[in-house]
Amino acid sequence: MTLLEHGPEQGGLLSRSPLVDEDFDRHRFRIHRETMTSPIVLAEEMARIFDRCWLYVGHESEVRNPGDYVRRPVGGRPVFMVRGARSGQVHVFHNTCPHRGAVVCRHKSGNSKVFQCFYHAWSFDSEGALVGVPGREAYGSRLDFDALGLRPVARMESYRGFVFACFDPGVPDLVSYLAGAREHLDLIVDSADGAMEVVKGTNEYGIDANWKLLAENSLDGYHAVPTHDTYLKYLVGMGTDVSGGVTGVGLGLGNGHAVIEYTAPMGRPIAKWAPQFGEQAREDIAQLRVELVARYGEQRAARMADYNRNLLIYPNLVINDIMAVTVRTFMPLAPDRMDVTAWQLAPGDEEPQLRKRRLDAFVSFFGPAGLATPDDSEALESCQLGYTSGGVEWNDLSRGMTRETNTSIDEEHLRAFWRQWADQMGAGGREESR
Ligand code: FES
Ligand SMILES: [Fe+2]
Repeated sequence: MTLLEHGPEQGGLLSRSPLVDEDFDRHRFRIHRETMTSPIVLAEEMARIFDRCWLYVGHESEVRNPGDYVRRPVGGRPVFMVRGARSGQVHVFHNTCPHRGAVVCRHKSGNSKVFQCFYHAWSFDSEGALVGVPGREAYGSRLDFDALGLRPVARMESYRGFVFACFDPGVPDLVSYLAGAREHLDLIVDSADGAMEVVKGTNEYGIDANWKLLAENSLDGYHAVPTHDTYLKYLVGMGTDVSGGVTGVGLGLGNGHAVIEYTAPMGRPIAKWAPQFGEQAREDIAQLRVELVARYGEQRAARMADYNRNLLIYPNLVINDIMAVTVRTFMPLAPDRMDVTAWQLAPGDEEPQLRKRRLDAFVSFFGPAGLATPDDSEALESCQLGYTSGGVEWNDLSRGMTRETNTSIDEEHLRAFWRQWADQMGAGGREESR
C-alpha cells in the first residue's frame, strides 16, 4: 500500500494525497503538513524508508581492536557493531538472542571476546558464533547449534571508514547508493589524509519535532542569519569580519542526498584560521594549509580549506564540515519526536592544541547547549507546535525554483530530499489548486 492509498479518495485516513505537490509553472513546491504530524506517515516511513535504505551505524575507528563493540539503535532497531577477534572484520548483528529474544549486547561500548545473554546465559563469540549453552546435553544431538549464532543484518558495507547497514537484502551496493555524496565524503576524509577517527564521547539529545525537519534544517542556509543571530554576534565579538556573509551553492546529489557548499566567516580547523581559534593557532593552521596544497594542489586544497559543507546522506545522516566535523544521525520516535546522536570526527594524528580547538567548536556551536543547536531545536519545535494550530495545510519549499543556479540559501537541494521521499513513499504528484 502506498500513501496515495491512504488518501481521502480511497476512504483512507489522510486528508490529502499526494502530500508533496510540485508544479513548476505555478512556482509551487509544497509539502503537506500531515507529512510531519501523521502516525500513518511515520508507520509507512519505517517500512518504506528505514527498512530499505542504507543507514549509518558507526565509524570503523570506534571498533579499532578485536572485540571492540558499540551498541546502537539503527532504523529503530537495536543492533551492535563489533570487530571479530579471529577475522578482524567488522560485523553488525541484530541485538537479539537467537534463543528467546533478549538483547545480547547490553553495554553501550566496550571490548569483549564473548557476549553472554543474561537471560539463560547462552554465549556468542565476537564473530557471532554460539559458543556456550548451559546444559547443552538437554537438547540432544539433532539441534543445529551452528544455525543459532547471532544474526548479521541483511547487508553491511563501509565506505572510507563509515559503516552502513541495510535491512533489505536486495538493495544496490553502498557506493552506488551514495551517488554524488561520495565526492563530498572523499573531500572530508582526504582533508585528513584518509585517517579520520571518531573522538570518544557523544552528544545525545531529543527534539520535539518531526525527523524530516532536522534533515531540512541541516541543509537550510536560508535560516542561518535570522536564527543564529547570537552566534554571529559572538563571532563579531571575537573580531571576525562577517561582512562577506554566507555564499555558496546547494546541490542535489542523487538518491535524496544533498549538500550545501559555502564560504562563511567562521574558521575551519582544516586550514582556515579565524579569530575564534586564537592568535596562537595562526601558524599551525597556516602550516596545515601548506601541507594540503602540497598533497592535493591549490584547487582541491582550497575546496577543502575554504568551503564548509553540510552533507545529508539520505535519509538520516548529516555530516557538517564547518568549524568542526560533526557526524549526526537522528531517528523518529513519534511523528513529533526524534532522538539525535552526534559525534566529532577528527584527523587521527591531530596536534593536541588543534584537537582542543576543534572540540571547543564542536561543543560551543553544535553541542546541545552550544550557540547553534538550541536555536535550531527551538525553530524545529516551533514549527511542530505551529502545525497543531491548523488553518494552514502546506509548507512552502519553492525558494529559488526558477533560478538557474541554486544557491545555498535556496531550496532546490531540500526539494531533492523531498522528491526522493515522495518516490519512496508513493506520495508525490501534482495537486490541483485549492
Ligand atoms: S534469551 Fe538469551 S539465553 Fe535465553
Ligand atoms: Fe541552524
